[in-house]
Amino acid sequence: MNKHGNFDRQFFKKAWPKGFRTNARSLEATGFDILDIYSVCIGPYANIGHHALEIGPGGGFWSKILLPRFELCWFVDVIPMPENFTSLCGELLDTYNHLWLEHESKQYDLAGVPVGGVDFVWCYGVLCHLSRTARRKYLAAIKKVMRPGAHASIMFADWDRHPVYHMLENPENYAEESPYGWFYDTVEASVKDVEKAGLTVVNSNVFPKARDTLMIIRLED
Ligand SMILES: C[S@@+](CC[C@H](N)C(=O)[O-])C[C@H]1O[C@@H](n2cnc3c(N)ncnc32)[C@H](O)[C@@H]1O
Repeated sequence: MNKHGNFDRQFFKKAWPKGFRTNARSLEATGFDILDIYSVCIGPYANIGHHALEIGPGGGFWSKILLPRFELCWFVDVIPMPENFTSLCGELLDTYNHLWLEHESKQYDLAGVPVGGVDFVWCYGVLCHLSRTARRKYLAAIKKVMRPGAHASIMFADWDRHPVYHMLENPENYAEESPYGWFYDTVEASVKDVEKAGLTVVNSNVFPKARDTLMIIRLED
């Protein structure tokens, strides 16, 4: 259990009132390259005839990439569509099909998303804030909504690498947690949870030199 507890809706609303939004520079600072992420983890699964699900879109950085590349995007978050999301994705929202589901605090069941109806799942910067129990619930729900043959690209927080990045920012700070609170696991533990949920790991750690684990997962036909 994280010292901040298992985060609820109030925490996310208070921490990022306008909706947290990743950006290319913050990705770079954590060892990622946005074009690499796009070309390996999103691009190959983009299909204008398919349905995508984004878990925890927040301020919409990834949603802007997803919206024009799928027939329909489901967005599931525990907050109402925030200001940063509407300001960034505004015009796309008029053009591309999307549905925003505001879930209850600490809800992890993807209720409302059609069972077997999703071809691609994207989740970045969300499961790292949820306890292992919550993550396991989410993985079971992700499996439930995926169509057989569908893929998911999911970010997990890595116990081994994350503190090293904190230390690079500030050598005094070999912290296990940022002020916003993270839950860490090893890549092996995350793989175990994914497989236990009945999903196949295609690539357990796409960018081993980056701060976090980006994993590509598949639901077998
Ligand atoms: C750090 S932000 C990441 C936002 C965005 N994915 C990005 O990379 O810029 C975490 C987001 O996850 C959302 N979140 C928290 N708990 C959630 C849950 N149980 N289900 C769905 N989203 C959740 C928060 O409200 C917030 O929008």
